[in-house]
Amino acid sequence: MRTRIYLPGGILLLVVVLLLVALVPGLSLAADTPKADPLADSVCASCHGDQAKAFLNNPHDRSLAAKGWRVDAICEACHGSGTKHAEAGGDKAFINGMKDLSGAEACLKCHNQIGDHACSNCSPVGAKASKGALIDTASHLTGSHAPQPAVNCLDCHSIHSATFTAPKLLKKPQLDLCESCHPTTVAAFRNKPYTHRVGRGGIQCTSCHEPHGRQGKAGMKLTRAGEPACVGCHAEKKGPFVFPHAGDVAGDCTTCHQPHASNNPHMLVQPTAMQLCLNCHTQLGGAKTLGAQPPAVHNVSLARWRNCTTCHTAIHGSNRSPQLFK
Ligand code: HEC
Ligand code: HEC
Ligand code: HEC
Ligand code: HEC
Ligand code: HEC
Ligand code: HEC
Ligand code: HEC
Ligand code: HEC
Ligand code: HEC
Ligand code: HEC
Repeated sequence: MRTRIYLPGGILLLVVVLLLVALVPGLSLAADTPKADPLADSVCASCHGDQAKAFLNNPHDRSLAAKGWRVDAICEACHGSGTKHAEAGGDKAFINGMKDLSGAEACLKCHNQIGDHACSNCSPVGAKASKGALIDTASHLTGSHAPQPAVNCLDCHSIHSATFTAPKLLKKPQLDLCESCHPTTVAAFRNKPYTHRVGRGGIQCTSCHEPHGRQGKAGMKLTRAGEPACVGCHAEKKGPFVFPHAGDVAGDCTTCHQPHASNNPHMLVQPTAMQLCLNCHTQLGGAKTLGAQPPAVHNVSLARWRNCTTCHTAIHGSNRSPQLFK
């Protein structure tokens, strides 16, 4: 019974929808009418057709076009005015080829995090990249990857790369990119037995490193709470614990772990846990002693005492046991 009532109702609805579609012309046509060709009156495209066409998918074009910029104006935001270049039939002398270091410096016109007033007349109004795409120049310009002849924006990014699907316009997949200048580091990840499996399972060099950051520790990524990236993934090691060990007392993760790759189980900085523990909990005493001395009952010449973490299992901290037993 129900189907009889339902069916005519459904058909009626269909008819109404079809009528509506037919009556409102834009509605049915919208899907297949091609948009006006954005390159129709582009001077640059008249000679650089392929380049300009490919560029329509570039995040630079997409974001500036959405703000009403015409294609040529977008090209010229990087390459400078092309009027003379075009008039001279493509004379290179009249266009900024954006090569090498000087080209890279032009990127900062729009990607510089320093306030607008510092650069109000070098970036075309409204062209500046949005907040998420600004480089922290206060740190970048003192970092290892600060613009210099040997390494600059254009060594890592390619504006007209053939594959605009490449995230962040990187020249190569990230691991290959870093490997091109840091081959031994990357080789260690591949060859050592205990490693972070970078390139697989979501860990990348930039999970920990800020490529536009300062040197040394200050160039490491932090979590939103300002903690080392490590605890973003290994949250359970972070605490807070009632009886902390890692973190508060024994230093950060890298006092005990190698971050990249290691020959030692658990990527410890020492071949065995005992050697690591005795670095600080030395039974010899002396100026270097950091932690408590293991009580005399610990006779490390006997095997049962050597495997420290079989008893002190809560090595990163405990809420129940001051001796880090559980
Ligand atoms: C009349 C044709 C023509 C027009 C119009 C034209 N170009 Fe070119 N452009 C050329 C030719 C030809 C070359 C290659 C010159 C060479 O290799 O010696 C070139 C080279 C370039 C280069 C590379 C320069 C270098 O140092 O390698 C850039 C960048 C460029 N054009 C940008 C533009 C932009 C942006 C526009 C639009 C404002 C534009 N062109 C309009 C013909 C043109
Ligand atoms: C965000 C900056 C930027 C914008 C916008 C831009 N380019 Fe480029 N362009 C570069 C850089 C950087 C190079 C140097 C080579 C490279 O990295 O690919 C370059 C190189 C070129 C070259 C010469 C090298 C080659 O690949 O043949 C041409 C021609 C060119 N651009 C044309 C254009 C045209 C046409 C547009 C607009 C449709 C445009 N560019 C927009 C940054 C830009
Ligand atoms: C005229 C201003 C301008 C210049 C010059 C410029 N950019 Fe951009 N860039 C933008 C805008 C706008 C975006 C869009 C993303 C946004 O605003 O969030 C962008 C986005 C990017 C992105 C992010 C792409 C993504 O997938 O998220 C990269 C990487 C980038 N630019 C690199 C460069 C490099 C390298 C140069 C120098 C060759 C350069 N830009 C020059 C304005 C500019
Ligand atoms: C050593 C290689 C390297 C250099 C040099 C470099 N970048 Fe990057 N850039 C990267 C990597 C890798 C990413 C992706 C970061 C990520 O995924 O967390 C990136 C991301 C970006 C982004 C996207 C926003 C973001 O932070 O994720 C922009 C914009 C950008 N770079 C612009 C530039 C500019 C401008 C320069 C020159 C001043 C530059 N980069 C120099 C490697 C580099
Ligand atoms: C799990 C986090 C993590 C990952 C992933 C990671 N790093 Fe590191 N990296 C570190 C830490 C921590 C340091 C030491 C920083 C310090 O104390 O100066 C470091 C140091 C470095 C150094 C300085 C020299 C050295 O070896 O001590 C280079 C170069 C480096 N990393 C490159 C890379 C490259 C390339 C990749 C990707 C193949 C990568 N890192 C992946 C955490 C990481
Ligand atoms: C074009 C070459 C080049 C590329 C590509 C490159 N680097 Fe570097 N990197 C350098 C140079 C040069 C230094 C400074 C000299 C040194 O310490 O070896 C450096 C230093 C570093 C350091 C050490 C920082 C410090 O202060 O000790 C880290 C970490 C690093 N790079 C990570 C990366 C990561 C991650 C990538 C891939 C996203 C990458 N690099 C891609 C050239 C490059
Ligand atoms: C005082 C030295 C020390 C510090 C500091 C330390 N660890 Fe450990 N960690 C160890 C030892 C020792 C082991 C091996 C435990 C065992 O043998 O069962 C280990 C094991 C691990 C493991 C693998 C085993 C497991 O329990 O999942 C991870 C992951 C780990 N640590 C992450 C971290 C992180 C992240 C930090 C920083 C918050 C950190 N560690 C700080 C000593 C330390
Ligand atoms: C992006 C997430 C991520 C970050 C950031 C990260 N790790 Fe890991 N870590 C992992 C994963 C996943 C594994 C398991 C091995 C693998 O698949 O790479 C692992 C494995 C480990 C192990 C070995 C565990 C074992 O059982 O032997 C240690 C130790 C470790 N990480 C310490 C660190 C330290 C120290 C840092 C910061 C310098 C860090 N991790 C940053 C995800 C991460
Ligand atoms: C970088 C130095 C360092 C390393 C390495 C280290 N510890 Fe500690 N540990 C400390 C410090 C500092 C304390 C703080 C408490 C104290 O000694 O008064 C501590 C506390 C302890 C305590 C609790 C003692 C108490 O009085 O609260 C135990 C148990 C302990 N560590 C065992 C270990 C074991 C097992 C290892 C090896 C896996 C190890 N520690 C590695 C520095 C270290
Ligand atoms: C068989 C189990 C066992 C092993 C293995 C072991 N411990 Fe202990 N550890 C204990 C016990 C039980 C205590 C508490 C003794 C007490 O309170 O009198 C203790 C206490 C400690 C303390 C002092 C805690 C405090 O409160 O002052 C330190 C430091 C310590 N151990 C370090 C180590 C180190 C380093 C190793 C490896 C060389 C190790 N332990 C191996 C059982 C063990």
